[in-house]
Amino acid sequence: MDIKIIGLTDQHEAYVGSKNRKFRINEFLIIEDIYQGDLIGEIVEAHTYNKFIPMVNNGDIMDANMLNSMEALGFDLEAGTIYLAKIRLVNEANFPIETGSNCRVPNFEEVKKYFISTTIEKGLNLGVIRNTDDIYKSADREFLGICKTLEDNKFIEQRELPYIFDLFGMHEYPHIGVFGGSGSGKSFGLRVILEELMKKNIPTITLDPHYEMDFSDKFNMDYGPDYSGDYSKFIIGKNIGIDFTELNTKDLKNLLNTSSRLTDAMENVVDNLHKNKDSLLTFENRLQRVMRGQELGSEEKINDKIINSQETDEKQYYKRVLDDFKKYNDKCPPSSITGVSWRFDKLKRMGIFEHKINEAEIALKSCKNIVIQGSIKIIQVFATYIINVLYEKRRNYKDAIINNKTEEYFPPFIVVTDEAHNFAPQTKDGMTDIPSKYILREIAQEGRKYGVFLILATQRPSLLDSTITAQLNTKLIFRTNRATDIQTIKEETDLSIEETNRLPYLKTGDVFLSESALGRTMYVRIRAAHTNTPHKENPFEELLYKKKQDIEIFYDIVEKYLPVSEDDLYNTCKEIQEDIGKLYSVSDLKTILESLYDEN
Ligand SMILES: Nc1ncnc2c1ncn2[C@@H]1O[C@H](COP(=O)(O)OP(=O)(O)O)[C@@H](O)[C@H]1O
Ligand SMILES: [Mg+2]
Repeated sequence: MDIKIIGLTDQHEAYVGSKNRKFRINEFLIIEDIYQGDLIGEIVEAHTYNKFIPMVNNGDIMDANMLNSMEALGFDLEAGTIYLAKIRLVNEANFPIETGSNCRVPNFEEVKKYFISTTIEKGLNLGVIRNTDDIYKSADREFLGICKTLEDNKFIEQRELPYIFDLFGMHEYPHIGVFGGSGSGKSFGLRVILEELMKKNIPTITLDPHYEMDFSDKFNMDYGPDYSGDYSKFIIGKNIGIDFTELNTKDLKNLLNTSSRLTDAMENVVDNLHKNKDSLLTFENRLQRVMRGQELGSEEKINDKIINSQETDEKQYYKRVLDDFKKYNDKCPPSSITGVSWRFDKLKRMGIFEHKINEAEIALKSCKNIVIQGSIKIIQVFATYIINVLYEKRRNYKDAIINNKTEEYFPPFIVVTDEAHNFAPQTKDGMTDIPSKYILREIAQEGRKYGVFLILATQRPSLLDSTITAQLNTKLIFRTNRATDIQTIKEETDLSIEETNRLPYLKTGDVFLSESALGRTMYVRIRAAHTNTPHKENPFEELLYKKKQDIEIFYDIVEKYLPVSEDDLYNTCKEIQEDIGKLYSVSDLKTILESLYDEN
C-alpha cells in the first residue's frame, strides 16, 4: 500500500495518507478514481500523525471518522508515524472523490500544462517550481539544467521544473507586481526579471533609486550570458536630463518642487513668469529682469537707469526691465520670486537641463534596458517626463498605423521600478500627489493597447495606488509579515487561505506566483541571478578591511623605526616627518602603535 484517499471527501478536496511517503506542499498527485478516472490534485497541507504523540491541534484533521476510515483501508495506526495531507483538485470533479482510491506521482506529460504555459523562446525563466522534483525526472530535455538556484550561498544544480513566465501572454494579461517585506528577495527577483528581458532584447526603462541595477559583475563566468551590451546606465543630471523648451508650466512647478516645496505664492510666480516654449535662457532672463526691477524698487528708478545708460545694450536691457516690472511686479512678491530663483538655481546646478534624453531614446530603440539613476525625488519628476515623452511616441506610432498614416517606428517597451510606492503612492486626503503617479496609472489602464507594460516592486502593496494594483495581472508575492499588506494581498490575488498563512514564513527568494492567465498560484524559487548587485559588500566588512589596510600601510612606514620606546615617541615623529614628509603627533603615533600591537 502506498498512497490512498482517506476519510470524508467532496468534489474539490480530500485527505491522502501514506505509511512510507512524506507529502510536500504544492506537489501534484494523480488520484486513480475507479469511477471517474484520473483526477489531478495538488497538496495544500501536509501533516504527520503518530498515535503516541498527542497532537496539539487535534480536532481538525484527525477526527474519529478519519481514524476509522484509515484502519478500514489497512493502515496500522499502532505502528509508528503516518503521513497525511490535504489534496485539492485542480479542476472540480463531477462527484466526490472516491475514498480508498490509490494515488500516484504523475509523469511530466500528464501535468505539463499546469506548470509550463509557454515555450522557452517566448518566456522568461525566472526560477524553478518547488516540489516538482518527481516530475522533473520525466521532463523534456529542453527544460533540464537551464538554471541554478542559490541556497545558503551555494549554487545548486536544477532539480525541479523551470518556471517560465509567459512574456508573450502579457499582451493579454499585462503588468506585473512584485510584493514582499524588506529582505524577502524583491530586488533580487527584479534583477532576474531584467536579465531575462535583456536576454530577449526587450526595450525596458528601469527606474533605479538605489543605484543597484548594474549588470557588469558576473557571479560566475560560465553561468549566464554577458549583459554588458544590453543595458545603458543614465544618471539624471550627469548624462541624461530634460529639454527645458519641452516643459510645460505644470512640469516646471513639479520640478521646482523637488528641490524643496513651493509655496502657493511661488507657484503663482511660476504661473506668471513661465511661457510655453520658453528656453532655459528666456525664462531665466525674465526672472532676473523682474528681480532687478524689484531691486531698483520703482518705475521712476528704472527710468533713471534707462536715461543714464551709456550703451544701447544697457538701455535696451533696462527698457525690458521696465516692461517686465510693470507686468509682473504686482503679481509676484519679491520674497516669492527669490524663493523660485533659489530653487531654479539648485535645479540648474544639478545639471538636469544640460542634457537631453536623446541617447536614452536611441538605446531604447535599439532594444536595450535603459537604467535611470537618481534620488527618489528627482526620479519622481524625471520619470514623469521621460516616460510621458516615450509613451507618447509609441502611442503616436500605433495610432498612425490605425489611421493609415506613416510615423517613425517606435518600439513597445516595459517600465520597471523598485520601490514603486514612491512613484505611485496611494494618496489619502490632504496628501499632495506625486507627478509620476498619473503616467504610471495611465499605462496601467491603457498601456496594453500600445504594448507598454509595467513591472512594479514594492514592500508595501497597501501603499501603492489601488487603481494600479488592480491592473497588475501577475503577482510575485514574497515573504510578508505586515497584517495590512497581507490583507491587501488577500484582496488582490487568488492566493488560497493556506498560502496566505504561509506568507510570513517563506524563505528569502521563495515566492508565490499568481498569474491571471493560469488562474492558479505556483510556488517558485527565484533562480540564481547571473549578475551581482554592486552593493553586495557589507559595510562593516568594508570598515574592517579599511582598518586592516590602514594598519598595513602604517606598518610599512614605521617598520624600520621599531621598536619605539615611550620616551622616543617625539623623536620618531620627527624622523618620520624628515624621512617621508608625513606628520604624526605624539599621541597619534602612540594610538596607532597601540592598535598595531593589538593586531599583533
Ligand atoms: N532568489 C534568491 N536566491 C538567493 N539569494 C537571494 C534570493 N533573493 C534574495 N536573495 C538574497 O537575500 C538578500 C535580500 O534580498 P533583496 O532582493 O535585496 O530583498 P528586498 O529587495 O526584498 O529587500 C540579498 O542579499 C540577496 O542576495
Ligand atoms: Mg530591495
